[in-house]
Amino acid sequence: MCGIVGAVAQRDIAEILIEGLRRLEYRGYDSAGLAVISEGQIARLRRVGKVAELQKAMEEAPIDGNIGIAHTRWATHGEPNENNAHPHFSNDRIAIVHNGIIENYEVLREELKSQGYAFSSDTDTEVMAHLIERERKTTESLLEAVLKATQLLEGAYGTVVMDQQNPEQLVVARSGSPLVLGKGIGEMFIASDQLALLPVTRQFMFLEEGEVAEVSRREVRILDANGALVERDFEESSVQHDAGDKGQFRHFMMKEIFEQPTSISNTLEGRLTNDSVVVESFGNKAPELLTKVKSVQIIACGTSYHAAMVAKYWIEAMVQIPCQVEIASEYRYRKSVVVPDSLFISISQSGETADTLAALRLAKEQGFMASLTICNVPGSSLVRESDMAFMTRAGAEIGVASTKAFTTQLTGLLMLATAMAQSKQTLPAEEIASIVDQLRQIPSEINEALAMDKTIEDISEEFTEKEHTLFLGRGEQYPIAMEGALKLKEISYIHAEAYAAGELKHGPLALIDQDMPIVVVAPNNDLVEKLKSNMEEVRARGGQLYVFADKESEINENDGIKIIHCSAKSHYTAPIIFTVPLQLLSYHVAVIRGTDVDQPRNLAKSVTVE
Ligand code: AGP
Repeated sequence: MCGIVGAVAQRDIAEILIEGLRRLEYRGYDSAGLAVISEGQIARLRRVGKVAELQKAMEEAPIDGNIGIAHTRWATHGEPNENNAHPHFSNDRIAIVHNGIIENYEVLREELKSQGYAFSSDTDTEVMAHLIERERKTTESLLEAVLKATQLLEGAYGTVVMDQQNPEQLVVARSGSPLVLGKGIGEMFIASDQLALLPVTRQFMFLEEGEVAEVSRREVRILDANGALVERDFEESSVQHDAGDKGQFRHFMMKEIFEQPTSISNTLEGRLTNDSVVVESFGNKAPELLTKVKSVQIIACGTSYHAAMVAKYWIEAMVQIPCQVEIASEYRYRKSVVVPDSLFISISQSGETADTLAALRLAKEQGFMASLTICNVPGSSLVRESDMAFMTRAGAEIGVASTKAFTTQLTGLLMLATAMAQSKQTLPAEEIASIVDQLRQIPSEINEALAMDKTIEDISEEFTEKEHTLFLGRGEQYPIAMEGALKLKEISYIHAEAYAAGELKHGPLALIDQDMPIVVVAPNNDLVEKLKSNMEEVRARGGQLYVFADKESEINENDGIKIIHCSAKSHYTAPIIFTVPLQLLSYHVAVIRGTDVDQPRNLAKSVTVE
């Protein structure tokens, strides 16, 4: 979603702003812009489309300055056009970039209009610019004006404000949308994500909820929500990623699919003994909490929700306690019942998903015994606001379609179920030791699955002209079928749905004809015989089946059945392994259809608005 970059330095910063925006491109956006104070005036450039368009415009009419702000916009209020692109101005004095949504903007807009303010965009952000300009007339500093203006706002914002009459300082404010400050030598930077600033610094400090700060070249002054001065140090970041580097791969998505063995090795590293999971991997209090926990509530969105669904199968089978799973956007607006001694778990690759964060905040008022997040981004809001955090260590994921973030989440969740079973002694020690061994095998099993790439590329040709695809699975493979369908629809734009195979005859069977490919996830487990009957139901109606199956599943290739052999050595790890061919299938179909694989239309990597 929207991205923010800001800088105050002694050198020209326009190039730094553009490079920062380029590094945030993966988040999804539809226009980009920047403003700098140049020779005492604010100069602005905005373009619809990619950051490359903005860069081209800057090459044609260069602007430079030592202080500036920049933004990539993902349209919420008003269509993606140049007028709606950020930065927004008020009276050529205040310039502002903003992530989030101001919910009461219509009332404020009418009030400001009646006071003589003219609007040049349809955005909620322009309201903020005018409010700050209005308050600036009667306040001693920009910081004070921002404080007063933000008190009038309902909704979410991460914002950077520049005052043409104060070319030494930027003011930032955070409520519901993340901001991070970066420190260079005699220069300071601001961004909505550390990745934007990695070329210029590795010293970072996150702004907390409700904080505002004055940022000048050598100094940062932070006030908390009550106006008290906050003391906080910059810290060296461990984030390692060059967002510009696809290596030998054509797309980030493919690079990230092939990184999965390494990512999962990183997830496991230092967290397993010979025969057990290190329970403290989930936090210092985990040994005590996981022994006491009597039920689990998991909340997530999208792909992370599919990981949660698999975890339900694992937790209930291995730990024998109830596990509820719900989509965050539903959970947060529903009156739910919390049973005593329940653990609240959020799952998110970004750690900033607005609905998941809101669900966590609600959960904290609801009386859960503790909150745990399974997350890929250190320092993200979910990590900082949860009692415990398990970092998945997938490394930065740039492709909008989540791949390695998902399989590392699953690995973390299988480790969690094992740690709980250990703590509560619901599985024999030999079984725990065997699962630990199976966890260690995941990277090599994924390597075997990746070796099927060519075979999958070949069959993907058969999907490219299709308008619909059905995915089927049973048990813990049902959420994997859902994930396969989500991947296909989000990057190839083919309509795809997943069903628990037992549901076929309750409706979806009516869709089956020779134009409907049906993808089946069929590892050899105790449900495979049931699945075979479901496949026969499809075959009898002329549907073309593509079955991802173990050799041991004993499903024979036949008219209407194509088998793609995939091998998982244990039923515990099979959901992780069988995910990989489905990722490859959606990737190749999308490439042949010529879509924007890494940045599919209308989607954003980090969904920071609800
Ligand atoms: C996955 O391919 C999607 N891009 C999307 O469903 C994503 O998983 C969802 O938005 C949740 O994001 P999170 O994991 O960052 O919370």
